[in-house]
Amino acid sequence: MCGIVGYVGHRPCVELLLDGLERLEYRGYDSAGVAVPVRGAFVRVRSVGGIAALRGAVAGDPRQAALSAATAGIGHTRWATHGRVSEGNAHPLGDDRHRVQIVLNGIVENHVELRDELRADGAAFASETDAEVVAHLVGRALDRGLADAVRATLDRLDGHFAFVAASAAEPGVLVGTRRACPLVVGHRDGERFFGSALVGLPDDLHGAHAIEDDEIAVAEAGSTQVVDAAGAVVRPRWLELEAARVRPSHAGHESFMLAEIGEQPQALRRTLRAQSAAHAIGEAPWETLAGARSVSFVGCGTSHHAALVGRYLLESWGGLRAEVDVASEWRHRDPDVGPGDVVLGITQSGETADTLGALRLARERGAHVLGLTNVPGSQITREADGTILTDAGTEVSVAATKTFVTQIAALAGLALRTGVARGVLEPARAALLADGVERLPDVVAQAQEAAAAPVARAVERWAEEPFFLFLGRHVGLPVALEGALKLKEIAYVPSDAYAAGEMKHGPIALLSEGTPVICVATESPVLDKLRSNVAEVRARGAHVLAIATEGCAGSIADEADELVLIPPTDVLLSPVPAIVPLQLLAYGIARARGLDPDRPRNLAKTVTVE
Ligand code: F6R
Repeated sequence: MCGIVGYVGHRPCVELLLDGLERLEYRGYDSAGVAVPVRGAFVRVRSVGGIAALRGAVAGDPRQAALSAATAGIGHTRWATHGRVSEGNAHPLGDDRHRVQIVLNGIVENHVELRDELRADGAAFASETDAEVVAHLVGRALDRGLADAVRATLDRLDGHFAFVAASAAEPGVLVGTRRACPLVVGHRDGERFFGSALVGLPDDLHGAHAIEDDEIAVAEAGSTQVVDAAGAVVRPRWLELEAARVRPSHAGHESFMLAEIGEQPQALRRTLRAQSAAHAIGEAPWETLAGARSVSFVGCGTSHHAALVGRYLLESWGGLRAEVDVASEWRHRDPDVGPGDVVLGITQSGETADTLGALRLARERGAHVLGLTNVPGSQITREADGTILTDAGTEVSVAATKTFVTQIAALAGLALRTGVARGVLEPARAALLADGVERLPDVVAQAQEAAAAPVARAVERWAEEPFFLFLGRHVGLPVALEGALKLKEIAYVPSDAYAAGEMKHGPIALLSEGTPVICVATESPVLDKLRSNVAEVRARGAHVLAIATEGCAGSIADEADELVLIPPTDVLLSPVPAIVPLQLLAYGIARARGLDPDRPRNLAKTVTVE
């Protein structure tokens, strides 16, 4: 959510800042800007739109000589929280005395009080953002230098944020700090780089470290010093750079999303390989779960849908009581967890504010905290007692695809080990299930092939439909929820997903002649009941596309108008192949409507605000 970058060194920096922002653009792309201190003042360029628009604005700016002379500066790509999308609300933001510029990611919760106080002191505000108070506070505390001003400002702020500040009076210094939002600083020879994620920093860094909560990093061309809130120097925690050096590309595909859908078999293969090497950070999660009383899954969006599948897996294979909730609800409902319970946060980015907040609450209550993420070095890996890593590779497309299927595969591996450790799974059954998990990459490849033609027909028929209903039962329900989410977020088509058994308690009223209904009718203990639900839908004139399992589609084939077959798997693994046609359907409809699936409006890949 918002990307921030900073550079201080010996080279002209504007191009370096733009480069970093381009890599962070997935975090937000509604407006962007850069500011550089030059001869006692700032040159700032901002624009509405993505980094391409900002590049255009920089190229067209009349202050080229100043822009190309600067060897320090800060930049920002925004996902609006407070204040509409406009150039005036784009970062960098300055104080009213033109002494300071800041870039901030996150939310300053007490900004209203601070704004009132600053106004009473004569401050004039130029934007509607919460972040502008930070620029004014730093500007008013500059007497003792930028680093002290940032420390004094940090003391006044409530919320979760990371920011980097620059002062016109100290053009060779940048100061960054954070609280609950990520910020890293890297170095290469006499150069220092700030970024809200490692991916925003250059590939050939010599080292990088994460700044921890309430630490302050003071960077100059040849040095970085990190101090804690009391001003004591702290030893940096160095980060592993290898993963960040691989720059994602969608060469050969029209978009990242299509490349990532297509790459799911490889992503699964890598993840399963990592699982068989028991790839985890900290304590082994299956050992924790072996002795646990219960597990509660928390996550947001697609990760929450993976958690819903995880509940079936941990209950059935792991023999463990399991609960699921969206992180933003769980953490505000006085959940009943404590010593002996495990709370497992699922987040592909490892940075989602609500998921991290839920885990902090779980820890406060004495529960064991585990994480499942795709990003090594992310915040969750630093906070959880143990973390399982998927190895889907960087997911660039805002809509999650390959991380969803790898999360389920990792949860299946976890449930298997837990079941064995708890003595719930007989060795022969465990071996059979493990074989099913190992086959997932091939099963997904087959599902992709099988889905291509029927999905293309569905896209042709339904590209302009104003509404879709998705139905599912058992593990088909999370698939229906995920299919509807994909369609909403990338094709902007209103859709609802419902437990099929609940349909006649309300949503059936939405159906009329020709309404598209997607039914996840894969093999399950409740397939017969689902068949009746499909019949009820058809009786209202709706047009049904069913996702069914090869070999047991007979009863559904009789009811549905269109069928997409997926290869057979263990019932609890079926969400992995079953989601493929729905990802392709959403993608196809988005393209047919002329939309860019990689950059859906209003969304950001990493949601670091609550
Ligand atoms: C949907 C999507 C989002 C994320 C959600 C959680 O395609 O990508 O719903 O799943 O924002 O993100 P993570 O998994 O990073 O916690």
